[in-house]
Amino acid sequence: MILQNFVVLEGTDGSGTTTQLELLQKKLPSSFFVATFEPTKGPIGKLLRESLRGKIPLEPKTLAYLFAADRQEHLYAPEGIVSHCQQQKLVISDRYVPSSLVYQGLFCGDAVVEQLNQDFPYPELLLYFRLPPEIAAGRYEQRSERDIYERLDFQKKIHQRYETVLPRYCEKGGTRCIVIDATKSIAEVAEEVWRALSHMPILKTICEAGTSQ
Ligand code: TYD
Repeated sequence: MILQNFVVLEGTDGSGTTTQLELLQKKLPSSFFVATFEPTKGPIGKLLRESLRGKIPLEPKTLAYLFAADRQEHLYAPEGIVSHCQQQKLVISDRYVPSSLVYQGLFCGDAVVEQLNQDFPYPELLLYFRLPPEIAAGRYEQRSERDIYERLDFQKKIHQRYETVLPRYCEKGGTRCIVIDATKSIAEVAEEVWRALSHMPILKTICEAGTSQ
C-alpha cells in the first residue's frame, strides 16, 4: 500500500539527506510539513543510536528487529507518520524501510529483513541521494562522532546494495523513485529536491495555502 503525502530520503552515510531535510524545514510552514528521521528520537531509536555508536553490542538480527519496532512506532503512534499524512501534511523521513533492506540485509540476509518490514506502507516518493563512496568518506570523516558503519570498505558495499535494492523496492510498492546527484553543491541539490517534490499534489496545496495567507 502507498501512503500518500509520505516522502523518504535515502542514501549512504554522508550523502547529505540530513542537510537537505533541515533546509526544507526552514522553507516549508510547520502547519503543513513534518520533518522526521530514523532511528527515531523515541526510546527504541535512542537504543539503536547507542548501539550504532558502538556503546551497546547487539546481534545483527536483534538490530533488524529493533529497527522494525522503531518504525512501527514511527508510523502508528498517535503523532506518527500515518496520522500526519492523513491530516494532509507532507511528511518527509530521513531514512525508512530501504535503509533496513540495505544495511541489515547485508548482515542478516534479505529474507529476514523483508519479512520484518513487509506490512509497512510504501512512500509516495523516494529520493535517492547518489554519491560515490569515496566522496562520502571525505564528508563523514570530518565529523567528531562516527558510527560503526562509517568506514569506506563497508560503505562501498552499502553503495552497491542501494543500487540494486532501491529499484526492486520501488517497483514492488509502486513508489516513484528519483535519483538526486548528491555530488553537487548544497544549493544545487536543494533545487533538485524541490523540483522532485513540486510534482506532488500535496505540495500544490501547501503552496496555494501559503499564497492565500
Ligand atoms: P544517519 O541518518 O546517518 O544518522 P546520523 O546522521 O545521526 O548518524 O543514520 C544512522 C545509521 O543508521 C546509518 O548508518 C544507517 C543506519 N540504519 C540502519 O542500519 N538501518 C535502518 O533501518 C535505519 C533507519 C538506519
